[in-house]
Amino acid sequence: MSIKIEKDMRKTFAIISHPDAGKTTMTEKLLMFGNLIREAGTVKGKKSGKFATSDWMEIEKQRGISVTSSVMNFPYKDYKVNILDTPGHEDFSEDTYRTLTAVDSVVMIIDATKGIEAQTIKLFKVCKMRGIPIFTFINKLDREGREPFDLLDQIEEVLDIETYPMNWPVGMGKRFLGILDRYNDQFVKFNGSERESLIPFDTLHSGDYKDITEDPTFKETEEEMLLLDEAGDQFDLDKVIKGDQTPVFFGSALAPFGVETFFDTFIDLAPTPQARKTTEGLVEPEQEQFSGFIFKIQANMNPAHRDRVAFLRVCSGKFERGMSVTLPRTGKAFKLNQTQQFVASSRGTVDEAYPGDIIGIYDPGVYRIGDTLLEGKQTFEYDELPQFPPELFKRVTAKNVMKSKQFKKGLEQLVQEGAIQLFKTYPMENYIIGAVGELQYQVFEHRMKHEYNVDVMFESIGERIPRWLTDNQVDTALFDDRNLLVKDREGEFLVLFKNDFALRWFTDKHKDIELIDLFEVN
Ligand code: G4P
Repeated sequence: MSIKIEKDMRKTFAIISHPDAGKTTMTEKLLMFGNLIREAGTVKGKKSGKFATSDWMEIEKQRGISVTSSVMNFPYKDYKVNILDTPGHEDFSEDTYRTLTAVDSVVMIIDATKGIEAQTIKLFKVCKMRGIPIFTFINKLDREGREPFDLLDQIEEVLDIETYPMNWPVGMGKRFLGILDRYNDQFVKFNGSERESLIPFDTLHSGDYKDITEDPTFKETEEEMLLLDEAGDQFDLDKVIKGDQTPVFFGSALAPFGVETFFDTFIDLAPTPQARKTTEGLVEPEQEQFSGFIFKIQANMNPAHRDRVAFLRVCSGKFERGMSVTLPRTGKAFKLNQTQQFVASSRGTVDEAYPGDIIGIYDPGVYRIGDTLLEGKQTFEYDELPQFPPELFKRVTAKNVMKSKQFKKGLEQLVQEGAIQLFKTYPMENYIIGAVGELQYQVFEHRMKHEYNVDVMFESIGERIPRWLTDNQVDTALFDDRNLLVKDREGEFLVLFKNDFALRWFTDKHKDIELIDLFEVN
């Protein structure tokens, strides 16, 4: 098949949410639709002791593996679906953010009882910054939650994105009757644990469904929907693709209710792989020659082999196992023999892959996060991956001062790989590690010990707000432990502010000093 046909079948996306909103439950339901797993109710259960296929972090850990995040792929209808997991909870790290650079769209799950929560905002910002289309699923309608209008208002206000409700819930919790599916003109009836039934709008008022149509909650909701039709925004796929409008679906991942109609609609509307920016302009996915970039490197997936796997997103052409590629950063050529495709806990060899696919390639220690790999005589590089502002900071030293040479070597390599961000205090040159999540420190400690034979010590300096200085002529007297002056790996000055208050106090006092939030300049 041609590359164009293959790429038009690919739907590559991630699910983002705050912990406990229902990401695992949703992923599991999608895997069931894709016939990847058969058993219902295998959601990771603290009670049942079972876990979802996507939630294999703990098992990996028990086998001595430090960090993980999975990619699941399965056929669905006419499509080949790739779902990239975005680890949350204590596994939240820069990898979670970087995963978003490798997808073509995102499903954002919001818990209807809680509304938008902190982690969703962070992940949403990254999507918005990169113009990734976002589809919203408001979950847990089987519980009493916040009013639908409230939830839409909150999305519009907090996330600053236009919403378009694709369906509208009729009641919630105990009074939950179903959803009015505006997009497909049908009422989807909630039947508890039984399968949902679909009633087209034009037969709904035929008299056969009086039990529904005469229900006061239903009548009220129909009026609300008319209001939406008249006063709400129009559905606009162009805006959705640009990331300026989010289609909103209501349902329950657990029931499951509204999940199948959501997924069917999502899979049709979500974009297939598009042209991507490079140092030599846009590169189309259907071009003959293979290209891709590495968005994540995972060490020690198999402790017996101490191997590393680089996760590569195929961006153009056809990948074939054994093919020769070049790494433009170094100009070196490689043969890609050892490749894997990930289906949660099982890993199979991949012989070919197309734009939108994610493959794992064996890394003998030559790749860095953000590296481009190219077939033939191409020379471009994909846009650099953004650096994400770390939030947690710790001083780090080697327990044994005799090991300072290995310590420095390890630090340097792990920084290059993108596993951590390193800063040096000024002028003392103490090392400070910045990370997005706690897990990154555990991984760092583990790898320093096992790969470089160095025991490290941490001293937390807490959550900090990093702001870069635009002027390299700084007056060191202005800074102390509260507002700590450090240099990043490029030698640029930044200040790690103790908290919001310290930042505001400093900005008020020193109006002449310009401070930059890395997020804004990205
Ligand atoms: P996460 O991956 O986003 O962290 O969330 P997860 O799917 O693990 O769901 C978190 C909790 O919310 C789970 O309950 C899950 O059963 C529940 N949940 C998910 N979707 C729905 C829904 O549509 N309705 C309702 N009522 N609950 C839902 P738990 O008690 O923490 O775990 P478990 O012991 O039930 O597995």
